[in-house]
Amino acid sequence: MKFKHPLMNNNFTGQDLTKVRELLKKKNIILTQSTKVAKFEKNWSKWLGVKYSTFVNSGSSANFISLSILKILNNNSNKNEIIVPTLTWVSDINSVIMNGFKPVFVDINLSNLSMDTDQVLQKINKKTLAVFITHAQGFNGLNKELLYTLKKKKIHLIEDVCESHGAKFEKKKLGNFGLISNFSFYYAHHMTTIEGGMISTNNKKIYEISKMLRSHGMVRETNNKTFETKMIDKYKDLSQKFIFLYPTLNFRNNEIGATIGLNQLKQLDKNNLKRTKNFLFFLKKIDPKKYFTKFDLKGSCNYAFPIILQTKNLKKRDEFERQLQKNNIEFRRGNAGGGNQLRQPYIKKFIKIKNFSKFKNVEHVHFFGYYIGNYPNLTNKKINKITNILNNISF
Ligand SMILES: Cc1ncc(COP(=O)(O)O)c(C=O)c1O
Repeated sequence: MKFKHPLMNNNFTGQDLTKVRELLKKKNIILTQSTKVAKFEKNWSKWLGVKYSTFVNSGSSANFISLSILKILNNNSNKNEIIVPTLTWVSDINSVIMNGFKPVFVDINLSNLSMDTDQVLQKINKKTLAVFITHAQGFNGLNKELLYTLKKKKIHLIEDVCESHGAKFEKKKLGNFGLISNFSFYYAHHMTTIEGGMISTNNKKIYEISKMLRSHGMVRETNNKTFETKMIDKYKDLSQKFIFLYPTLNFRNNEIGATIGLNQLKQLDKNNLKRTKNFLFFLKKIDPKKYFTKFDLKGSCNYAFPIILQTKNLKKRDEFERQLQKNNIEFRRGNAGGGNQLRQPYIKKFIKIKNFSKFKNVEHVHFFGYYIGNYPNLTNKKINKITNILNNISF
């Protein structure tokens, strides 16, 4: 069989399909958001170690709703800056912009692809409302200094854990440290619901708002009956079931997604262990003269093998890409989300930074950083083959 290495392999399993079939065979089934969604949310919260979770249709929706919640809670304050990484997914930045906040960008560290703490601390001022961290490609982005400062200065932390399910800081799963945390279950991530996302929190009020924001801003989505009655009394001219409190859209997921999620969640820890073993083996095998290997592995859990070239020569980089294509190794340049967000056309209307000298690391990743797939059924034999191909590329 022809050698190939896709970004993801068999993430949707035969067992998932069986569970979906069982659901579909039931009489009078409800397929829109119902009991399976509630069960998945409950099991997810338990797995993560938080009180509440809201299942939505994507990680981007989780990002957007989280920032909308900040906007609602921040009603009377003039704080409008959110510190964001330059290496993240586009929806993190767009959620900030679409909710009327100003994104303030910082560089990343090569060792964990996450925010440079010194730059975060430098950017904090009276207008800083939150730090929206991304734990990129399975690495932990937190440290004591950052957490201490945010707590001291009463700045919110929002965690985007869409690429790092199961990774930890100080033995606690990421997603436990922020006011709100976000996950994605897109096909290529640690676990999948085909498309899907989760908003997790320990704050009951935030949870209740997230449920309304998920579903047209409707008051009837809340479990807080006292609040619902208060709104019904307040808006007597409205139909009780149609009180639309916040401007939002429909971000709901469904029973099929939740059924897959429930089954996938059972495999997550086992699969993550295998991914971690794969990554350590991969790192041991690649040539550190050609590829960056000094990653901060503590607590990490990677669904991908990040490959950062040591060279800064574009011609050599192009040759690297040709070799990967020739050997059917699927790759993405720019690590998480295509590299430096500041270079993307969508941002130019909002932020005009042309000099990227303060963003050295993300710039290197933008032009010379990649990732390739790391999935549980990858064998050492295959990893050996991949690293041989990589190591034989001449730089
Ligand atoms: C860090 C990060 N945040 C958010 C998202 C958005 O998730 P989704 O693709 O489920 O919308 C992604 C997607 O890959 C991501 O990598």
